[in-house]
Amino acid sequence: MRFIPLYFLFASALLTAGAAAQNQNSSLKDAYTNHFIIGTALSATQIHGKEPGTLELVKQQFNAVTAENVMKWELIEPVEGQFNFAAADAMIAYAEANNIKVIGHVLLWHEQTPDWVFLDAKGQPASKELVLSRLKNHINAVMSRYKGRIHGWDAVNEALNEDGTLRQSKWYKALGEDYIATVFELAHQADPKAQLYYNDFNLFKPEKRAGALKLIADLQAKKAPIYGIGEQGHYSLDYPELQQVEDSIAAFGKTGLKVVITELDISVLPFPDPTNIGADISLNMKLKQEFNPYADGLPQAVSDQLSNKYLQFFELFLRHSDTIERVTLWGVNDNQTWRNNWPMRGRTDYPLLFDRNNQPKEVVPKLVKLAEKAGK
Ligand code: XIL
Repeated sequence: MRFIPLYFLFASALLTAGAAAQNQNSSLKDAYTNHFIIGTALSATQIHGKEPGTLELVKQQFNAVTAENVMKWELIEPVEGQFNFAAADAMIAYAEANNIKVIGHVLLWHEQTPDWVFLDAKGQPASKELVLSRLKNHINAVMSRYKGRIHGWDAVNEALNEDGTLRQSKWYKALGEDYIATVFELAHQADPKAQLYYNDFNLFKPEKRAGALKLIADLQAKKAPIYGIGEQGHYSLDYPELQQVEDSIAAFGKTGLKVVITELDISVLPFPDPTNIGADISLNMKLKQEFNPYADGLPQAVSDQLSNKYLQFFELFLRHSDTIERVTLWGVNDNQTWRNNWPMRGRTDYPLLFDRNNQPKEVVPKLVKLAEKAGK
């Protein structure tokens, strides 16, 4: 038998332990495991494995996925009673095979919903009964197919105006203001185990936050099965003020509900229409190069600002990890982010944690360290 010096055994044991610790901690999901879930949205291209490396990266780094589009009404039920489940099925199969939680997005929204939902056979506004029966059919069909397999659903999306009043959407007009509670009831009946969220953007704004708190109080008074509040989190280097985000998380936490950050991205580009800051997807401005300053690459100084913003937000989220259950990025990489095309088509933005080649940005290991330092 060959003699193996003890110090060598000791050193290699240390190395192995070190490598294991590093491997274990080098992913976002592992570093944050005691704090909150780390999710990402997936596009149809990504779900179908057509973007090289993305599904591999997602299972290393994230433990929740949201369909960026394919579970929205216009994609999953484009024609009454005709459902396109293929892409959602594929995403859920991928998630289940890799121990990743699935977030459903979204049951009811005024956007990306086909016109037929609100029209009768003659093309006139449909009656309340007809719209309600379509809503029931939709929720039952989609939720019963995936019953017990979806961690949480964005049940209602963007029902509030910027001033905190209820949006006079087609849903509101057809069903009256009780429609929000109705969605929560229907969804809970269809899949009692799924967490149900009210999801919206700009909830950091004091007046919109107040509207959301009123809505929550109303739902709680009706004993509607709401589990949490989704703060979308479409931010930029210039807004919002961290304090406002913190105040909103604290205020929502006091209602007894959980907070989920559902759609985080931090644009580095100037917002072309300061009166419309938020995430109203109907904005569609013509490309002007003055609003597209980094088409040829991101200067280091701006990249540093982005890192700092991410670190500040995650510090804040970690401080509130008793309230926050999940932080989901709205996309995996800068190549695919919707912010390249919203609110102005054809820009080059850099709002996510992985670059155009799916490489981690400088901030990723820093975010990992931040979570480790936060202990638990
Ligand atoms: C966006 C998608 O990212 C885009 O691909 C799509 O063209 C429009 O919708 N709020 C939401 C999300 O709740 O569903 C939106 O996603 C972004 C704003």
